[in-house]
Amino acid sequence: MASCAALAVLWWVAAAYPVVFRAGPVDGLAVNWGTRALHPLPGEITVRLLRDNGFDKVKLFEADPNALRALGHSGIQVMVGLPNELLAGVAGSVNAAEQWVLQNVSTYISKYGVDIRSVAVGNEPFLKSYKGQFESVTLPAVQNIQAALVKAGLGRQIRVTVPLNADVYESGDGKPSSGDFRPDIQGLMVNLVRFLLDNNGILAINIYPFLSMDADPNFPKDYAFFPSPGAPPSQASVQDGNVLYTNVFDANYDTLISALEKNGLGSIPVVVGEIGWPTDGDQNANVPSAHKFNQGLFDRIVAGKGTPRRPQMPDVYVFALLDEDAKSVDPGNFERHWGVFNYDGSPKYALRLANGRPVVPAKGVRYLSKQWCVLRPEADPNDPSIGGAVQYACQYGDCTSLSPGSSCGSLDVRGNISYAFNQYFQASNQMKNACAFNNLSVITTTDPSRGTCRFGIQIDTGKHVLIGKSAAGRASAISTAVLLVVALLPLMMAAP
Ligand SMILES: *[C@@H]1O[C@H](CO)[C@@H](O)[C@H](O)[C@H]1NC(C)=O
Ligand SMILES: *[C@@H]1O[C@H](CO)[C@@H](O)[C@H](O)[C@H]1NC(C)=O
Ligand SMILES: *[C@@H]1O[C@H](CO)[C@@H](O)[C@H](O)[C@H]1NC(C)=O
Repeated sequence: MASCAALAVLWWVAAAYPVVFRAGPVDGLAVNWGTRALHPLPGEITVRLLRDNGFDKVKLFEADPNALRALGHSGIQVMVGLPNELLAGVAGSVNAAEQWVLQNVSTYISKYGVDIRSVAVGNEPFLKSYKGQFESVTLPAVQNIQAALVKAGLGRQIRVTVPLNADVYESGDGKPSSGDFRPDIQGLMVNLVRFLLDNNGILAINIYPFLSMDADPNFPKDYAFFPSPGAPPSQASVQDGNVLYTNVFDANYDTLISALEKNGLGSIPVVVGEIGWPTDGDQNANVPSAHKFNQGLFDRIVAGKGTPRRPQMPDVYVFALLDEDAKSVDPGNFERHWGVFNYDGSPKYALRLANGRPVVPAKGVRYLSKQWCVLRPEADPNDPSIGGAVQYACQYGDCTSLSPGSSCGSLDVRGNISYAFNQYFQASNQMKNACAFNNLSVITTTDPSRGTCRFGIQIDTGKHVLIGKSAAGRASAISTAVLLVVALLPLMMAAP
Protein backbone atom coordinates (compact mmCIF):
# COMPACT_ATOMS: atom_id res chain seq x y z
CA MET A 1 0.00 0.00 0.00
CA ALA A 2 2.78 2.40 0.97
CA SER A 3 4.59 1.95 -2.32
CA CYS A 4 1.28 2.36 -4.08
CA ALA A 5 0.63 5.73 -2.55
CA ALA A 6 4.18 6.79 -3.38
CA LEU A 7 3.65 5.75 -6.96
CA ALA A 8 0.43 7.70 -7.13
CA VAL A 9 2.19 10.83 -5.93
CA LEU A 10 5.02 10.33 -8.40
CA TRP A 11 2.47 9.87 -11.14
CA TRP A 12 0.77 13.10 -10.29
CA VAL A 13 4.02 15.03 -10.16
CA ALA A 14 5.30 13.58 -13.41
CA ALA A 15 2.01 14.10 -15.17
CA ALA A 16 2.11 17.80 -14.36
CA TYR A 17 5.43 18.31 -16.15
CA PRO A 18 4.63 18.08 -19.85
CA VAL A 19 1.97 20.74 -19.62
CA VAL A 20 4.52 23.13 -18.16
CA PHE A 21 7.63 22.25 -20.12
CA ARG A 22 6.64 20.59 -23.36
CA ALA A 23 4.39 23.09 -25.07
CA GLY A 24 4.92 23.61 -28.78
CA PRO A 25 4.67 21.53 -31.91
CA VAL A 26 7.29 18.90 -31.05
CA ASP A 27 6.00 16.42 -28.56
CA GLY A 28 8.85 13.94 -28.54
CA LEU A 29 6.94 10.91 -29.76
CA ALA A 30 8.67 8.13 -31.69
CA VAL A 31 7.26 5.41 -33.92
CA ASN A 32 8.15 2.56 -36.28
CA TRP A 33 7.26 3.12 -39.93
CA GLY A 34 7.11 -0.24 -41.70
CA THR A 35 6.50 -0.25 -45.43
CA ARG A 36 5.38 -3.83 -46.16
CA ALA A 37 2.03 -2.84 -47.61
CA LEU A 38 0.37 -3.79 -50.90
CA HIS A 39 -0.51 -0.13 -51.47
CA PRO A 40 1.79 1.88 -49.24
CA LEU A 41 0.49 5.22 -48.03
CA PRO A 42 2.50 7.79 -50.04
CA GLY A 43 5.60 9.10 -48.30
CA GLU A 44 4.63 12.79 -48.17
CA ILE A 45 1.23 11.93 -46.70
CA THR A 46 2.85 9.70 -44.09
CA VAL A 47 5.40 12.33 -43.10
CA ARG A 48 2.62 14.88 -42.67
CA LEU A 49 0.72 12.33 -40.55
CA LEU A 50 3.80 11.93 -38.35
CA ARG A 51 4.23 15.67 -37.91
CA ASP A 52 0.54 16.38 -37.34
CA ASN A 53 0.56 13.88 -34.49
CA GLY A 54 3.74 15.04 -32.81
CA PHE A 55 6.07 12.21 -33.84
CA ASP A 56 9.56 13.67 -34.19
CA LYS A 57 11.49 10.40 -34.31
CA VAL A 58 10.90 7.54 -36.71
CA LYS A 59 12.45 4.11 -37.16
CA LEU A 60 12.66 2.41 -40.56
CA PHE A 61 13.38 -1.31 -40.97
CA GLU A 62 15.33 -0.72 -44.13
CA ALA A 63 16.55 2.16 -46.21
CA ASP A 64 13.24 2.50 -48.03
CA PRO A 65 13.86 5.15 -50.72
CA ASN A 66 10.30 6.54 -50.75
CA ALA A 67 10.19 6.91 -47.01
CA LEU A 68 13.66 8.43 -46.77
CA ARG A 69 13.11 10.96 -49.55
CA ALA A 70 9.85 12.05 -47.99
CA LEU A 71 11.61 12.50 -44.64
CA GLY A 72 14.09 14.96 -46.14
CA HIS A 73 13.94 18.41 -44.49
CA SER A 74 11.00 17.27 -42.34
CA GLY A 75 12.62 17.93 -38.98
CA ILE A 76 12.02 14.28 -38.06
CA GLN A 77 14.97 12.32 -36.69
CA VAL A 78 15.48 8.98 -38.38
CA MET A 79 16.79 5.56 -37.33
CA VAL A 80 17.58 3.51 -40.45
CA GLY A 81 17.65 -0.27 -40.25
CA LEU A 82 20.02 -2.69 -41.93
CA PRO A 83 18.03 -5.92 -42.42
CA ASN A 84 19.27 -9.27 -41.07
CA GLU A 85 19.77 -10.59 -44.60
CA LEU A 86 22.57 -8.05 -45.10
CA LEU A 87 24.39 -8.82 -41.83
CA ALA A 88 26.65 -11.56 -43.16
CA GLY A 89 27.80 -9.51 -46.15
CA VAL A 90 28.51 -6.43 -44.08
CA ALA A 91 30.22 -8.51 -41.37
CA GLY A 92 32.51 -10.13 -43.91
CA SER A 93 33.55 -7.06 -45.85
CA VAL A 94 34.55 -3.58 -44.79
CA ASN A 95 33.86 -2.47 -48.34
CA ALA A 96 30.26 -3.79 -48.18
CA ALA A 97 29.74 -1.84 -44.97
CA GLU A 98 31.16 1.31 -46.56
CA GLN A 99 28.94 0.87 -49.60
CA TRP A 100 25.89 0.39 -47.42
CA VAL A 101 26.65 3.57 -45.49
CA LEU A 102 27.35 5.48 -48.68
CA GLN A 103 24.19 4.37 -50.51
CA ASN A 104 21.79 4.16 -47.64
CA VAL A 105 22.95 6.83 -45.21
CA SER A 106 25.36 9.45 -46.58
CA THR A 107 23.41 10.01 -49.79
CA TYR A 108 20.16 10.65 -47.97
CA ILE A 109 21.82 13.12 -45.64
CA SER A 110 23.71 15.10 -48.27
CA LYS A 111 21.32 14.84 -51.20
CA TYR A 112 17.91 14.81 -49.52
CA GLY A 113 18.52 16.46 -46.17
CA VAL A 114 17.36 13.51 -44.09
CA ASP A 115 18.19 13.87 -40.40
CA ILE A 116 19.57 10.36 -39.82
CA ARG A 117 20.61 9.98 -36.17
CA SER A 118 21.09 6.26 -35.76
CA VAL A 119 21.60 3.03 -37.65
CA ALA A 120 19.96 -0.17 -36.43
CA VAL A 121 22.20 -3.06 -37.41
CA GLY A 122 19.98 -6.13 -37.82
CA ASN A 123 16.57 -6.64 -36.30
CA GLU A 124 16.22 -8.98 -33.30
CA PRO A 125 19.15 -11.06 -34.62
CA PHE A 126 19.39 -13.18 -31.44
CA LEU A 127 15.74 -14.21 -31.44
CA LYS A 128 15.61 -17.84 -30.29
CA SER A 129 13.56 -18.81 -33.34
CA TYR A 130 16.48 -17.84 -35.63
CA LYS A 131 18.39 -20.73 -34.07
CA GLY A 132 21.65 -18.82 -33.85
CA GLN A 133 22.03 -18.05 -37.56
CA PHE A 134 22.92 -14.37 -36.99
CA GLU A 135 24.89 -14.77 -33.77
CA SER A 136 28.37 -14.84 -35.25
CA VAL A 137 27.82 -12.02 -37.77
CA THR A 138 26.06 -9.37 -35.70
CA LEU A 139 28.98 -7.94 -33.74
CA PRO A 140 31.36 -7.90 -36.73
CA ALA A 141 28.63 -6.15 -38.75
CA VAL A 142 28.22 -3.56 -36.00
CA GLN A 143 31.97 -2.99 -35.94
CA ASN A 144 32.19 -2.58 -39.70
CA ILE A 145 29.23 -0.20 -39.86
CA GLN A 146 30.67 1.85 -37.01
CA ALA A 147 34.01 2.07 -38.83
CA ALA A 148 32.27 2.96 -42.09
CA LEU A 149 30.31 5.75 -40.38
CA VAL A 150 33.51 7.16 -38.91
CA LYS A 151 35.20 7.00 -42.30
CA ALA A 152 32.23 8.81 -43.87
CA GLY A 153 32.63 11.58 -41.29
CA LEU A 154 29.38 10.62 -39.57
CA GLY A 155 30.87 9.05 -36.44
CA ARG A 156 29.69 11.83 -34.16
CA GLN A 157 26.29 12.49 -35.58
CA ILE A 158 25.11 8.89 -36.01
CA ARG A 159 24.89 6.30 -33.26
CA VAL A 160 24.86 2.58 -33.88
CA THR A 161 22.38 0.28 -32.23
CA VAL A 162 21.08 -3.29 -32.44
CA PRO A 163 17.35 -3.75 -31.78
CA LEU A 164 17.04 -6.87 -29.66
CA ASN A 165 14.06 -8.89 -28.60
CA ALA A 166 13.38 -9.09 -24.89
CA ASP A 167 14.31 -12.78 -24.97
CA VAL A 168 18.02 -11.88 -24.75
CA TYR A 169 17.59 -11.56 -20.98
CA GLU A 170 15.65 -13.40 -18.32
CA SER A 171 15.12 -13.72 -14.61
CA GLY A 172 15.37 -17.08 -12.90
CA ASP A 173 12.87 -16.31 -10.14
CA GLY A 174 10.72 -13.80 -12.05
CA LYS A 175 12.02 -10.83 -10.06
CA PRO A 176 13.49 -8.01 -12.14
CA SER A 177 16.44 -7.66 -9.75
CA SER A 178 17.52 -11.21 -10.68
CA GLY A 179 17.78 -10.28 -14.38
CA ASP A 180 20.72 -11.50 -16.43
CA PHE A 181 21.46 -12.26 -20.07
CA ARG A 182 20.28 -15.52 -21.59
CA PRO A 183 23.02 -18.05 -20.73
CA ASP A 184 23.65 -19.20 -24.32
CA ILE A 185 24.49 -15.65 -25.48
CA GLN A 186 25.89 -14.22 -22.23
CA GLY A 187 29.40 -13.61 -23.61
CA LEU A 188 28.09 -12.29 -26.90
CA MET A 189 25.76 -9.82 -25.19
CA VAL A 190 28.55 -8.53 -22.97
CA ASN A 191 30.88 -8.03 -25.95
CA LEU A 192 28.19 -6.38 -28.05
CA VAL A 193 26.98 -3.96 -25.41
CA ARG A 194 30.58 -3.22 -24.40
CA PHE A 195 31.36 -2.26 -27.99
CA LEU A 196 28.27 -0.05 -28.22
CA LEU A 197 29.15 1.58 -24.89
CA ASP A 198 32.73 2.30 -26.01
CA ASN A 199 31.55 3.76 -29.32
CA ASN A 200 28.78 6.06 -28.20
CA GLY A 201 26.14 3.55 -29.30
CA ILE A 202 22.75 2.75 -27.82
CA LEU A 203 20.82 -0.40 -27.01
CA ALA A 204 17.32 -0.86 -28.42
CA ILE A 205 15.03 -3.41 -26.83
CA ASN A 206 11.66 -4.64 -28.13
CA ILE A 207 9.12 -5.42 -25.42
CA TYR A 208 5.78 -7.05 -26.21
CA PRO A 209 3.31 -7.58 -23.37
CA PHE A 210 0.83 -8.70 -26.05
CA LEU A 211 3.05 -11.61 -27.05
CA SER A 212 3.60 -12.62 -23.40
CA MET A 213 -0.13 -12.69 -22.91
CA ASP A 214 -0.93 -14.37 -26.22
CA ALA A 215 1.58 -17.18 -25.66
CA ASP A 216 0.18 -18.19 -22.27
CA PRO A 217 -3.56 -18.71 -21.68
CA ASN A 218 -2.93 -18.36 -17.93
CA PHE A 219 -1.13 -15.03 -18.24
CA PRO A 220 -2.86 -12.52 -15.94
CA LYS A 221 -4.53 -10.16 -18.41
CA ASP A 222 -4.54 -7.00 -16.32
CA TYR A 223 -0.78 -7.32 -15.67
CA ALA A 224 -0.16 -6.92 -19.42
CA PHE A 225 -1.59 -3.38 -19.32
CA PHE A 226 -0.43 -0.20 -17.62
CA PRO A 227 -2.55 0.32 -14.52
CA SER A 228 -4.97 3.22 -14.66
CA PRO A 229 -4.00 5.89 -12.14
CA GLY A 230 -5.69 5.17 -8.83
CA ALA A 231 -6.70 1.62 -9.75
CA PRO A 232 -5.70 -1.18 -7.36
CA PRO A 233 -2.59 -3.06 -8.54
CA SER A 234 -2.98 -6.30 -10.49
CA GLN A 235 -3.19 -9.48 -8.41
CA ALA A 236 -0.22 -10.64 -10.46
CA SER A 237 1.98 -7.74 -9.33
CA VAL A 238 5.53 -8.82 -8.43
CA GLN A 239 7.05 -7.76 -5.12
CA ASP A 240 10.78 -7.30 -5.61
CA GLY A 241 12.42 -6.05 -2.41
CA ASN A 242 10.77 -2.72 -1.69
CA VAL A 243 9.35 -2.36 -5.15
CA LEU A 244 5.96 -3.56 -6.36
CA TYR A 245 5.89 -4.20 -10.10
CA THR A 246 2.33 -3.64 -11.28
CA ASN A 247 2.73 -4.36 -14.99
CA VAL A 248 4.82 -6.44 -17.33
CA PHE A 249 6.49 -3.51 -19.11
CA ASP A 250 8.08 -2.13 -15.95
CA ALA A 251 9.14 -5.59 -14.78
CA ASN A 252 10.55 -6.51 -18.16
CA TYR A 253 12.47 -3.28 -18.69
CA ASP A 254 13.97 -3.43 -15.22
CA THR A 255 15.01 -7.04 -15.78
CA LEU A 256 17.12 -5.71 -18.65
CA ILE A 257 18.51 -2.89 -16.51
CA SER A 258 19.49 -5.44 -13.82
CA ALA A 259 21.16 -7.62 -16.43
CA LEU A 260 23.15 -4.64 -17.73
CA GLU A 261 24.16 -3.51 -14.23
CA LYS A 262 25.14 -7.05 -13.23
CA ASN A 263 27.56 -7.11 -16.15
CA GLY A 264 29.04 -3.68 -15.55
CA LEU A 265 27.15 -2.17 -18.51
CA GLY A 266 24.61 -0.08 -16.64
CA SER A 267 25.64 3.16 -18.32
CA ILE A 268 24.60 2.15 -21.86
CA PRO A 269 21.72 4.36 -23.06
CA VAL A 270 18.63 2.26 -23.74
CA VAL A 271 15.65 2.94 -25.99
CA VAL A 272 12.55 0.82 -26.50
CA GLY A 273 12.75 -0.15 -30.17
CA GLU A 274 9.25 -1.62 -30.47
CA ILE A 275 6.19 -1.87 -28.27
CA GLY A 276 2.51 -1.90 -29.13
CA TRP A 277 -0.70 -3.89 -29.41
CA PRO A 278 -2.42 -5.22 -32.56
CA THR A 279 -6.12 -4.75 -33.31
CA ASP A 280 -7.06 -7.76 -35.41
CA GLY A 281 -6.21 -11.28 -36.53
CA ASP A 282 -6.25 -12.88 -33.07
CA GLN A 283 -8.66 -13.23 -30.18
CA ASN A 284 -6.48 -11.01 -27.97
CA ALA A 285 -5.98 -8.47 -30.73
CA ASN A 286 -8.85 -6.00 -30.83
CA VAL A 287 -9.54 -2.29 -30.72
CA PRO A 288 -10.50 -2.01 -27.01
CA SER A 289 -7.35 -3.84 -25.85
CA ALA A 290 -5.06 -1.93 -28.21
CA HIS A 291 -6.65 1.36 -27.20
CA LYS A 292 -6.22 0.57 -23.53
CA PHE A 293 -2.62 -0.55 -23.88
CA ASN A 294 -1.46 2.22 -26.20
CA GLN A 295 -3.25 4.96 -24.24
CA GLY A 296 -1.49 3.74 -21.10
CA LEU A 297 1.77 3.73 -23.00
CA PHE A 298 1.38 7.22 -24.52
CA ASP A 299 0.37 8.61 -21.14
CA ARG A 300 3.60 7.25 -19.69
CA ILE A 301 5.67 8.58 -22.60
CA VAL A 302 4.13 12.03 -22.42
CA ALA A 303 4.54 12.12 -18.65
CA GLY A 304 8.14 10.95 -19.05
CA LYS A 305 7.50 8.44 -16.29
CA GLY A 306 9.99 5.58 -16.39
CA THR A 307 10.35 2.42 -14.34
CA PRO A 308 11.36 1.87 -10.70
CA ARG A 309 15.02 1.39 -11.73
CA ARG A 310 15.04 4.12 -14.40
CA PRO A 311 12.62 6.88 -13.39
CA GLN A 312 13.15 8.72 -16.71
CA MET A 313 11.14 7.20 -19.56
CA PRO A 314 13.52 6.28 -22.43
CA ASP A 315 12.74 7.05 -26.07
CA VAL A 316 9.95 4.65 -27.00
CA TYR A 317 9.38 3.73 -30.65
CA VAL A 318 5.77 2.62 -30.76
CA PHE A 319 4.98 -0.30 -33.04
CA ALA A 320 3.57 0.67 -35.36
CA LEU A 321 2.41 3.68 -37.28
CA LEU A 322 0.35 1.87 -39.95
CA ASP A 323 -1.05 -1.58 -40.65
CA GLU A 324 1.00 -3.54 -43.18
CA ASP A 325 -1.05 -5.98 -45.23
CA ALA A 326 1.93 -7.59 -46.93
CA LYS A 327 3.86 -8.59 -43.80
CA SER A 328 4.69 -12.23 -43.20
CA VAL A 329 2.11 -13.87 -40.95
CA ASP A 330 4.60 -16.40 -39.56
CA PRO A 331 4.29 -14.92 -36.04
CA GLY A 332 0.48 -14.96 -36.35
CA ASN A 333 -2.36 -13.31 -38.27
CA PHE A 334 -2.16 -10.30 -35.93
CA GLU A 335 1.14 -9.36 -37.57
CA ARG A 336 -0.56 -7.18 -40.21
CA HIS A 337 -2.56 -5.18 -37.67
CA TRP A 338 -0.14 -3.40 -35.34
CA GLY A 339 -0.89 0.10 -36.62
CA VAL A 340 -2.09 2.90 -34.38
CA PHE A 341 -3.56 3.96 -37.74
CA ASN A 342 -5.26 1.86 -40.39
CA TYR A 343 -3.47 1.20 -43.70
CA ASP A 344 -4.80 4.53 -45.00
CA GLY A 345 -3.73 6.69 -42.05
CA SER A 346 -7.19 6.90 -40.48
CA PRO A 347 -7.08 6.50 -36.69
CA LYS A 348 -8.37 3.20 -35.31
CA TYR A 349 -9.42 4.62 -31.96
CA ALA A 350 -9.57 7.93 -30.12
CA LEU A 351 -6.04 8.01 -28.79
CA ARG A 352 -4.96 11.08 -26.85
CA LEU A 353 -1.39 12.11 -27.59
CA ALA A 354 0.74 14.83 -26.04
CA ASN A 355 -1.15 17.49 -24.09
CA GLY A 356 -4.35 15.47 -24.38
CA ARG A 357 -4.55 16.23 -28.09
CA PRO A 358 -6.63 13.76 -30.09
CA VAL A 359 -4.98 11.74 -32.80
CA VAL A 360 -5.28 13.37 -36.27
CA PRO A 361 -6.01 11.42 -39.49
CA ALA A 362 -3.86 11.47 -42.63
CA LYS A 363 -4.73 14.23 -45.05
CA GLY A 364 -4.99 14.12 -48.82
CA VAL A 365 -5.37 10.33 -49.20
CA ARG A 366 -6.77 9.30 -52.58
CA TYR A 367 -8.81 6.14 -52.80
CA LEU A 368 -9.82 3.88 -55.67
CA SER A 369 -13.49 4.04 -56.72
CA LYS A 370 -16.26 3.24 -54.26
CA GLN A 371 -16.80 -0.28 -55.48
CA TRP A 372 -16.36 -3.76 -54.11
CA CYS A 373 -16.19 -7.28 -55.48
CA VAL A 374 -18.59 -9.75 -53.85
CA LEU A 375 -20.06 -13.21 -54.35
CA ARG A 376 -22.80 -12.97 -56.99
CA PRO A 377 -26.17 -13.10 -55.17
CA GLU A 378 -27.42 -15.98 -57.33
CA ALA A 379 -24.18 -17.94 -57.03
CA ASP A 380 -24.11 -21.12 -55.01
CA PRO A 381 -21.64 -20.78 -52.10
CA ASN A 382 -21.13 -24.55 -52.35
CA ASP A 383 -20.00 -24.35 -55.96
CA PRO A 384 -17.00 -26.70 -56.21
CA SER A 385 -14.71 -23.98 -57.54
CA ILE A 386 -15.27 -21.67 -54.56
CA GLY A 387 -12.66 -23.24 -52.27
CA GLY A 388 -9.81 -22.78 -54.69
CA ALA A 389 -10.93 -19.29 -55.70
CA VAL A 390 -11.00 -18.11 -52.08
CA GLN A 391 -7.65 -19.68 -51.37
CA TYR A 392 -6.19 -17.93 -54.38
CA ALA A 393 -7.74 -14.59 -53.48
CA CYS A 394 -6.33 -14.82 -49.96
CA GLN A 395 -2.88 -15.71 -51.17
CA TYR A 396 -2.58 -12.24 -52.78
CA GLY A 397 -5.12 -10.28 -50.80
CA ASP A 398 -5.02 -10.08 -47.01
CA CYS A 399 -7.66 -12.26 -45.36
CA THR A 400 -6.27 -12.17 -41.81
CA SER A 401 -9.38 -10.34 -40.57
CA LEU A 402 -11.35 -13.55 -41.21
CA SER A 403 -9.49 -15.43 -38.45
CA PRO A 404 -11.57 -16.64 -35.51
CA GLY A 405 -12.20 -13.84 -33.01
CA SER A 406 -11.24 -11.15 -35.56
CA SER A 407 -13.23 -8.25 -36.98
CA CYS A 408 -14.66 -10.38 -39.81
CA GLY A 409 -14.55 -13.69 -37.94
CA SER A 410 -18.31 -14.02 -37.59
CA LEU A 411 -19.34 -13.53 -41.21
CA ASP A 412 -21.51 -16.25 -42.74
CA VAL A 413 -20.24 -18.42 -45.57
CA ARG A 414 -21.31 -15.95 -48.28
CA GLY A 415 -19.75 -13.07 -46.37
CA ASN A 416 -16.50 -14.97 -46.06
CA ILE A 417 -16.30 -15.55 -49.78
CA SER A 418 -17.19 -11.94 -50.61
CA TYR A 419 -14.58 -10.64 -48.20
CA ALA A 420 -11.85 -12.73 -49.84
CA PHE A 421 -12.94 -11.71 -53.35
CA ASN A 422 -12.94 -8.04 -52.39
CA GLN A 423 -9.50 -8.15 -50.78
CA TYR A 424 -8.11 -9.59 -53.98
CA PHE A 425 -9.99 -7.09 -56.14
CA GLN A 426 -8.70 -4.14 -54.13
CA ALA A 427 -5.15 -5.50 -54.05
CA SER A 428 -5.34 -5.71 -57.86
CA ASN A 429 -6.23 -2.01 -58.21
CA GLN A 430 -9.88 -2.90 -58.88
CA MET A 431 -9.03 -4.23 -62.32
CA LYS A 432 -12.25 -5.58 -63.85
CA ASN A 433 -10.76 -8.98 -64.53
CA ALA A 434 -9.73 -9.25 -60.87
CA CYS A 435 -13.44 -9.72 -60.10
CA ALA A 436 -14.01 -12.57 -62.51
CA PHE A 437 -13.99 -15.63 -60.32
CA ASN A 438 -15.55 -18.12 -62.72
CA ASN A 439 -18.82 -16.14 -62.94
CA LEU A 440 -19.21 -16.36 -59.17
CA SER A 441 -18.38 -12.73 -58.43
CA VAL A 442 -19.81 -9.35 -59.26
CA ILE A 443 -18.79 -5.72 -58.72
CA THR A 444 -21.13 -3.72 -56.49
CA THR A 445 -21.32 -0.08 -55.44
CA THR A 446 -23.19 -0.94 -52.21
CA ASP A 447 -20.79 -1.13 -49.26
CA PRO A 448 -20.92 -4.77 -48.06
CA SER A 449 -19.40 -3.85 -44.64
CA ARG A 450 -21.36 -5.14 -41.68
CA GLY A 451 -20.83 -4.95 -37.94
CA THR A 452 -17.14 -4.77 -37.09
CA CYS A 453 -16.19 -6.10 -40.52
CA ARG A 454 -15.02 -3.41 -42.91
CA PHE A 455 -14.86 -4.17 -46.61
CA GLY A 456 -12.00 -1.89 -47.55
CA ILE A 457 -11.24 0.23 -50.57
CA GLN A 458 -7.57 0.44 -51.38
CA ILE A 459 -5.50 3.56 -51.62
CA ASP A 460 -4.95 4.97 -55.05
CA THR A 461 -1.19 5.19 -54.93
CA GLY A 462 -1.23 6.90 -58.30
CA LYS A 463 1.29 4.40 -59.64
CA HIS A 464 -0.86 3.54 -62.61
CA VAL A 465 -0.89 7.20 -63.51
CA LEU A 466 2.82 7.81 -63.08
CA ILE A 467 4.19 4.54 -64.38
CA GLY A 468 1.06 3.29 -66.09
CA LYS A 469 2.44 0.30 -67.90
CA SER A 470 4.25 -1.56 -65.18
CA ALA A 471 1.58 -1.33 -62.48
CA ALA A 472 -1.25 -2.16 -64.84
CA GLY A 473 0.88 -4.90 -66.34
CA ARG A 474 1.42 -6.47 -62.94
CA ALA A 475 -2.24 -6.27 -62.01
CA SER A 476 -3.36 -7.85 -65.24
CA ALA A 477 -0.73 -10.57 -64.89
CA ILE A 478 -2.23 -11.44 -61.50
CA SER A 479 -5.73 -11.41 -62.96
CA THR A 480 -4.73 -13.63 -65.83
CA ALA A 481 -3.34 -16.06 -63.30
CA VAL A 482 -6.67 -16.03 -61.45
CA LEU A 483 -8.61 -16.69 -64.60
CA LEU A 484 -6.28 -19.58 -65.33
CA VAL A 485 -6.57 -21.04 -61.86
CA VAL A 486 -10.33 -20.61 -61.83
CA ALA A 487 -10.61 -22.16 -65.25
CA LEU A 488 -8.50 -25.10 -64.11
CA LEU A 489 -10.34 -25.54 -60.83
CA PRO A 490 -12.99 -28.00 -62.00
CA LEU A 491 -10.16 -30.17 -63.34
CA MET A 492 -8.15 -29.83 -60.14
CA MET A 493 -11.15 -30.58 -57.96
CA ALA A 494 -12.10 -33.58 -60.07
CA ALA A 495 -8.68 -35.16 -59.64
CA PRO A 496 -8.70 -37.94 -57.03
C1 LIG B 1 20.70 -0.26 -49.26
O1 LIG B 1 19.51 -0.70 -48.64
C2 LIG B 1 18.65 -1.45 -49.48
C3 LIG B 1 17.39 -1.72 -48.68
O2 LIG B 1 17.67 -2.39 -47.50
C4 LIG B 1 19.36 -2.71 -49.93
O3 LIG B 1 18.55 -3.44 -50.78
C5 LIG B 1 20.66 -2.35 -50.59
O4 LIG B 1 21.37 -3.53 -50.89
C6 LIG B 1 21.51 -1.45 -49.70
N1 LIG B 1 22.72 -1.05 -50.39
C7 LIG B 1 23.90 -1.60 -50.13
C8 LIG B 1 25.06 -1.08 -50.90
O5 LIG B 1 24.06 -2.48 -49.28
C1 LIG C 1 -23.32 -16.67 -64.85
O1 LIG C 1 -24.28 -17.00 -63.87
C2 LIG C 1 -25.59 -16.56 -64.13
C3 LIG C 1 -26.49 -16.96 -62.99
O2 LIG C 1 -25.85 -16.90 -61.77
C4 LIG C 1 -26.09 -17.17 -65.44
O3 LIG C 1 -27.36 -16.65 -65.76
C5 LIG C 1 -25.12 -16.87 -66.56
O4 LIG C 1 -25.48 -17.57 -67.73
C6 LIG C 1 -23.70 -17.30 -66.15
N1 LIG C 1 -22.76 -16.91 -67.19
C7 LIG C 1 -21.83 -17.73 -67.62
C8 LIG C 1 -20.93 -17.16 -68.67
O5 LIG C 1 -21.69 -18.87 -67.21
C1 LIG D 1 -15.07 -18.13 -42.67
O1 LIG D 1 -13.70 -18.23 -42.92
C2 LIG D 1 -12.93 -18.47 -41.78
C3 LIG D 1 -11.50 -18.36 -42.19
O2 LIG D 1 -11.22 -19.08 -43.33
C4 LIG D 1 -13.29 -19.82 -41.21
O3 LIG D 1 -12.54 -20.09 -40.06
C5 LIG D 1 -14.73 -19.81 -40.86
O4 LIG D 1 -15.12 -21.07 -40.41
C6 LIG D 1 -15.55 -19.41 -42.06
N1 LIG D 1 -16.89 -19.23 -41.65
C7 LIG D 1 -17.90 -19.75 -42.32
C8 LIG D 1 -19.24 -19.47 -41.76
O5 LIG D 1 -17.73 -20.42 -43.33
